[in-house]
Amino acid sequence: MEYEKRVVGAGLQSDEEQIEQSIRPKRFEDYVGQTNVTDNLKVYIQASKMRGESLDHVLFYGPPGLGKTTLAGIIAEEMGVDIRISSGPAITRAADLAAILSNLNKGDVLFIDEIHRLNRTVEEVLYSAMEDFALDIVTGKGPAAHSLRIPLPKFTLIGATTRAGSLSSPLRDRFGVLAKFELYNEQELSRILNRTAGILNVKINEDAAMLIASRSRGTPRVANRLLKRIRDFAQVQGLDSIDTSVVETSLKALGIDELGLEDLDRRILDLIITKFNGGPVGIDTIAASIGEERVTIEDAYEPYLMQLGLLARTPKGRVVTDAAYRHLGIKDYEHK
Ligand SMILES: Nc1ncnc2c1ncn2[C@@H]1O[C@H](COP(=O)(O)OP(=O)(O)O)[C@@H](O)[C@H]1O
Ligand SMILES: [Mg+2]
Repeated sequence: MEYEKRVVGAGLQSDEEQIEQSIRPKRFEDYVGQTNVTDNLKVYIQASKMRGESLDHVLFYGPPGLGKTTLAGIIAEEMGVDIRISSGPAITRAADLAAILSNLNKGDVLFIDEIHRLNRTVEEVLYSAMEDFALDIVTGKGPAAHSLRIPLPKFTLIGATTRAGSLSSPLRDRFGVLAKFELYNEQELSRILNRTAGILNVKINEDAAMLIASRSRGTPRVANRLLKRIRDFAQVQGLDSIDTSVVETSLKALGIDELGLEDLDRRILDLIITKFNGGPVGIDTIAASIGEERVTIEDAYEPYLMQLGLLARTPKGRVVTDAAYRHLGIKDYEHK
């Protein structure tokens, strides 16, 4: 998707995958925040280890870049099992899923990212795999058809999605644990930044870390990515540590404003104000006018704009708030 390629977009950039690996926490003690999710998970993990059983299936949902993939890895690590990683769009045929499932060992974690994008036939294979730990294979056609049941090892499915609402209810109902990921606060992001700076071997002072945190859209992936870019600016300027002044100049160069908004955020707000009198306006209209996919706007942009109180969802469509007018420097009376 388009937003995965943006500097401050929350998606994964392939050229940065290697650094991503080194800064990705491997254990709970390095995983900052999200305690609503982790506190309970730690209990479930401990309990299933005490019983010598596999962990129940877990569904993670929430905006991109908040640590869903990371936490799946930590769970496998803490359970002492292997993890197989795949994704909804990658598993196109039932046979692909059958192959993945039959290669799992007892207790293993199967992580399926973007699980809402699994197609119907694949999803149906998953039902019996999740519920009965069995593969139902149908051979032949018509009256000659008969089905074969192949047992599977007891595994743990961890599904991740940006949109729990797009999951079919039979699939959603088969998860024993549903965990919603929230945006991070600035203290948490600052802790993440300090840890990452240590791994990248770059010095950063307290104020500079807080400043980056405040511009990171509540998202660890964005925070880490900004840190890497700011490190480049600091290096070229011959600085041996990152201070607030290099953060300011770098953010400016990256087009990120005081609230952490990038160009597209501002275009969304500006569109609603200048073309639609502040709203309400439908999400499809916004997407078409901006030239972005609807899901990109819904998943990657709206959560942060709503958290800042600049945008609201109403039954009739999206509306901007007075704070959005103020942030863009547009006087209310000019448009209302
Ligand atoms: N709770 C956390 N503590 C520390 N770093 C985190 C945390 N959550 C995410 N990160 C960092 O952000 C990056 C993106 O996280 P990821 O798990 O890929 O997000 P998601 O799968 O939700 O899109 C990771 O590489 C990791 O470095
Ligand atoms: Mg992920």
